[in-house]
Amino acid sequence: QAYNERESLYIALNFAKDFFVKNLHTEEGRAIGLSYFKERGFNQNIIEKFDLGYTLDGWDHLLKAAKEAGHSEEILLKAGLVLQKEGDPNRVYDRFRGRVTFTIHNLGGKPIGFGARILTQDKKQPKYINSPETEVYHKSDVLYGMFQAKKSIRENDNCYLVEGYTDVISMHLAGIENVVASSGTSLTENQIKLIKRFTDNVTVLFDGDAAGIKASLRGIDMLLEGGLNVKAVVFPDGDDPDSYSRKVGSQAFTDYLAGNAQDFIAFKISLYADEVANDPVKRAELIKQVVQSLAKIPDPIIRSVYVRQSAKLLEIEEEIIQIELNKILLKVQ
Ligand code: UTP
Ligand code: MN
Ligand code: MN
Ligand code: MN
Ligand code: MN
Repeated sequence: QAYNERESLYIALNFAKDFFVKNLHTEEGRAIGLSYFKERGFNQNIIEKFDLGYTLDGWDHLLKAAKEAGHSEEILLKAGLVLQKEGDPNRVYDRFRGRVTFTIHNLGGKPIGFGARILTQDKKQPKYINSPETEVYHKSDVLYGMFQAKKSIRENDNCYLVEGYTDVISMHLAGIENVVASSGTSLTENQIKLIKRFTDNVTVLFDGDAAGIKASLRGIDMLLEGGLNVKAVVFPDGDDPDSYSRKVGSQAFTDYLAGNAQDFIAFKISLYADEVANDPVKRAELIKQVVQSLAKIPDPIIRSVYVRQSAKLLEIEEEIIQIELNKILLKVQ
């Protein structure tokens, strides 16, 4: 055997990528997939840049083509491209069918997995089907779009962090290339380390619903813990970066980011401001929460800047925050 298993997986995944890209330009692909992308404002340039594709409707289009090209069922299974039939593991079928595909690349630009979006409103099926964890795709190590973003992250010394595939793509269309997506899951330590290879500054762009924002706050504390400087932008009700940029246009979108990036601590305080205003118990809770976040900042100089700022925003003495902070810092040492 000429290749080891990892290499065989990469080759199979690259074959699948080429196949999906080619399918987008078949009659079915143009009528269903390409017209969907065009409706979302994706042009041919961006379709090529992100290796967007289409999976034909049917059970074995990829399976057949890949086997004909010499890829074994075993490798296709291990690559997450096909699935074993329930109750009949000798029969396998295509994982992605009748969907548009988003290729997930590793840092070197090799395809390692796919996200596939449904095109109907069928609520019984998941909106996205994603590749599973494989030998070459460790989800907790990967951020979608990093291959296309890394140069721009370095140049801008900042990384935008969004939730979804289409947010990344729409921001590229708006001329902003330093953007990666967590793909809807909470951040991991390795993903934070990955960002840190290129910059110390992260701007988190949240989909605009308060519930979602509060749920992801803890994950964002991890960015502080990782020694990153964190800013946050919230979009108006219900919008995400993709929908908002299409609504207002590239220039207004860029201006919005510049005008609404809030320092993370200030953002956290403002999020709770209404709830806390007339409730001393909740206010005390918020102060404790902010102190917890401050304690996660490893650099003492940066921390002291934030202490001063938090005191101002919370309208309390800096000393009170410092005393609470010391309690935590002395405990962990
Ligand atoms: P969203 O529901 O915000 O989707 O999920 P989206 O990215 O805005 O997609 P569009 O605009 O409706 O097409 C954010 C991310 O969470 C993951 C995907 O990575 C998605 O981009 N997700 C979401 C899934 O993996 N599966 C799902 O069923 C839904
Ligand atoms: Mn790993
Ligand atoms: Mn969302
Ligand atoms: Mn979204
Ligand atoms: Mn969206």
